[in-house]
Amino acid sequence: MNEEIIRLRQEIREHEYRYYVLNDPVISDKDFDELMYKLQRLESEHPESFDVNSPTQRVGSDLASSGFSQHKHRYPMLSLGNTYSEEEVRDWYVRVLKDINSEIEVVCELKFDGTGISLWYENGELVRALTRGDGQQGDDVSANVRTIKNIPLKLHGDYPENVEFRGEILLPWAEFDRLNKQREEREEPLFANPRNAASGTIKLQNSREVSERNLTSYMYYMLGEHLPSDTHYGCLQKAKEWGIVVSDTTRLCKTFDEVMDFIRYWDTERKALPVATDGIVLKVNNLNQQKNLGFTAKSPRWAIAYKFQAEKALTRLNDVTYQVGRTGTVTPVANLEPVLLSGTIVKRASLHNADIITGMDLHTGDMVYVEKGGEIIPKITGVEHSQRDGNAEPVKFIDRCPECGTELVRDAGEAAFYCPNKKGCPPQIKGRIEHFVSRRAMNIEGLGSETIALLFQKKIIADVSDLYKLTVGQLAPLERLGEKSAKNIIGEIERSTEVPFERVLFALGIRYVGETVSKKLAKALGGIQNIMNATYDELISVDEIGDKIAESLREYFSDKDNIDLINRLASYGVKMECPVTVAGISSILKGKTIVISGTFGKHSRDEYKALIEDHGGKNSGSISSKTSFLLAGENMGPAKREKADKLGVKIVSETDFLAMIGEESI
Ligand code: IVH
Repeated sequence: MNEEIIRLRQEIREHEYRYYVLNDPVISDKDFDELMYKLQRLESEHPESFDVNSPTQRVGSDLASSGFSQHKHRYPMLSLGNTYSEEEVRDWYVRVLKDINSEIEVVCELKFDGTGISLWYENGELVRALTRGDGQQGDDVSANVRTIKNIPLKLHGDYPENVEFRGEILLPWAEFDRLNKQREEREEPLFANPRNAASGTIKLQNSREVSERNLTSYMYYMLGEHLPSDTHYGCLQKAKEWGIVVSDTTRLCKTFDEVMDFIRYWDTERKALPVATDGIVLKVNNLNQQKNLGFTAKSPRWAIAYKFQAEKALTRLNDVTYQVGRTGTVTPVANLEPVLLSGTIVKRASLHNADIITGMDLHTGDMVYVEKGGEIIPKITGVEHSQRDGNAEPVKFIDRCPECGTELVRDAGEAAFYCPNKKGCPPQIKGRIEHFVSRRAMNIEGLGSETIALLFQKKIIADVSDLYKLTVGQLAPLERLGEKSAKNIIGEIERSTEVPFERVLFALGIRYVGETVSKKLAKALGGIQNIMNATYDELISVDEIGDKIAESLREYFSDKDNIDLINRLASYGVKMECPVTVAGISSILKGKTIVISGTFGKHSRDEYKALIEDHGGKNSGSISSKTSFLLAGENMGPAKREKADKLGVKIVSETDFLAMIGEESI
């Protein structure tokens, strides 16, 4: 059986190589997943065959690591000299030519804007991945790096005994957007750019979480005592053969004109790439020439970076205004003298929070630099102090809510100020109603922010429950509405009573309770009563619910007005419970004692425990002769399996268990 495992691992590696390096897969994703499942199953049956570099290890582990150990770099990790103009690139080229005193070839590469990594392979196996650290030693982030699918855990072909690759770990734009959207929903601080997101991710303590973020990588440098070629380009080609992912954009240039063509081409084309880049790296191709050129204290003389111009403009800061969001958070917005920046007119820029304003010592009327860079919303990156008017006043963050006058507060450790007047501050009330009707919440079409503002202003609605009392007669006379739209809206509101509870919970707009959290809560607790009555400990035992969310829930439900609101909504027929099948009440497992082991795909272990109880069964932590069956997921501990076999306890898979309790019907 061990041979079968080794064969499967090899087969999977071949497919990974074809997919990530050659861009030429020969099987479908589904078939690939099947091979992986098969290997996972065999490995869990044969724990003695464990291999940290098995393709199955890419899922990471849920066990939090306690910090990273430090490891010395075999070769120091240096940085590159920067240039910002064609002239500076030419100066470098001419200097190199002069020093070498013969012809040179230059390898042009993109400068990827992620976080640097060093991969150390011994006998073809990935043994260590280190961050740059201080250049001399870095953090051992091997467990996290093993989850990155395009990094080979094992090389193939004629690799040397020891070899190191340097490269960049990146979070693709699409993943960056997805991650930030998720964070926004959870009201967690957003990542400013994919670089921060990549370096934050590689330092996470939980490698399972890293694996879910879909990092990618490119390698651009090979080091070792026995390199396969006497040119940099040759080494990169060899690296590809061994399974290392090198960017296809890399070019070998024979003349300075070719170098400049590469720079000019990518200056615009880079915007279409799936990952962030911030320049071009030029490297002398011949390794002997590299050796002759040598290093300065900080960087090699044989390489240089050309940094793309950040798209930047200088304009006047007219004033700062403040926006109040639905949760009361106050966001400062810079109002600028309109200026053209990479094709669009910019009038406003985000200032994020009070600390940014004081950090930059902003004064009203200052000339400020605005950049778009990788970020979507333009931001102010600096102040041109030389152009400051002597009478200019520093921008002072407001201390009262601009909408309702309430004194602002700031929670310990949080950057944002917020208005605590939840019940009386108009933008918060309107914001909650807008959120309630939004597509992902109650999905009530036709009720835009302007209509909501009108209804609120005319005192027709004061909270979301009033929506269910609205009549066509009240809506039709409103500006731009009319009889037909009014009827449609009423129909939409009626239909919203069919929206499942998990989305109702999300629609309530409880702080930190986004879509995912709502789903988890609804599934684990079944309905509003259980959530309301849950203790703090019960709440945090739900998958993905931490203390911040639990506290926010407890606070929300401790307010009688919120309970009244929920009761009113329920009286109008809004769903406050999951359908019975989700909480899954039956007595099918009555009298059965069940032990859970391993990790599962469709529900968390806690959810399975709850399901067992919901269906009348009993959970137990250890196998005995009384155990009715063992619910086994992936990577089940070998000791448990052995004991089950010995006592003749039946083993039930996740799929079979779900079928048993009839969960497929959901
Ligand atoms: S070569 C000794 N090539 O830029 C030369 N670096 O300041 C080692 N980077 O820390 C670096 N793309 O993280 C090289 N194609 C590329 C690169 C690249 C991005 C990063 C790298 C390094 C920094 C240099």
